[in-house]
Amino acid sequence: MTLEEKIDLFEALETERLILRKIVDEDAEALYNNIYNNFEYFKFYYQVPFNTFEEYKPLVEKYKEWYANGNHFRWGIVLKETNEIIGLVQLHTRDTLNNHCKIGYIIGYNYTKKGYAKEAVQKVIRFGLDKLNFHRIEAEIVAQNESSIKIAEHVGMHLESLKEDSYKIGDQYYDQKVYTIINKTK
Ligand SMILES: CC(C)(COP(=O)(O)OP(=O)(O)OC[C@H]1O[C@@H](n2cnc3c(N)ncnc32)[C@H](O)[C@@H]1OP(=O)(O)O)[C@@H](O)C(=O)NCCC(=O)NCCS
Repeated sequence: MTLEEKIDLFEALETERLILRKIVDEDAEALYNNIYNNFEYFKFYYQVPFNTFEEYKPLVEKYKEWYANGNHFRWGIVLKETNEIIGLVQLHTRDTLNNHCKIGYIIGYNYTKKGYAKEAVQKVIRFGLDKLNFHRIEAEIVAQNESSIKIAEHVGMHLESLKEDSYKIGDQYYDQKVYTIINKTK
């Protein structure tokens, strides 16, 4: 199966404690309250702050179009127990010619250190390698982002290289570590 085929390969996924599903407009408020009202927290994930909910909301509303175009691999992380959306994980920057993509993930600041990120990222990595047949998935992680590096290592990624001054916030440049996982059979 190739990713050029005009069928949408997105699937909702499930783990022991989580549902990973498409993000809808109604999720915007919870995502803002759990994540995007705290730039200091998410700055290594996305460089642009949102000063108000109104500034943030259009971004979530765009997802609808992206999903409708097919093959947009962005999951909301939902707790089975409460049905609350607490984070996101996505496979992005797909390179169909070379059969690889990047992974990004974020968990609300009140929900860290419970293993949710690890559980969600592990599931999406397996989906990416086993179902979407990517040969390689990479994560670019700011060198200071220790919790993200731990997640990458926990899910079986290995440190491949360092990109110097590749991430800029305001006037400051940060190095990024590239973690990868490769499926030699694909
Ligand atoms: C990076 C990020 C996703 C990590 O999330 P997290 O919640 O710390 O990750 P997890 O809970 O899955 O795992 C972290 C720890 O919880 C531990 N843990 C696992 N299950 C647990 C449980 N049931 N109860 C308590 N702790 C648990 C894990 O063992 C791990 O411990 P360690 O730090 O000693 O290795 C989160 O910090 C984040 O969203 N940061 C901001 C966005 C960001 O930087 N994203 C990455 C960009 S590259």
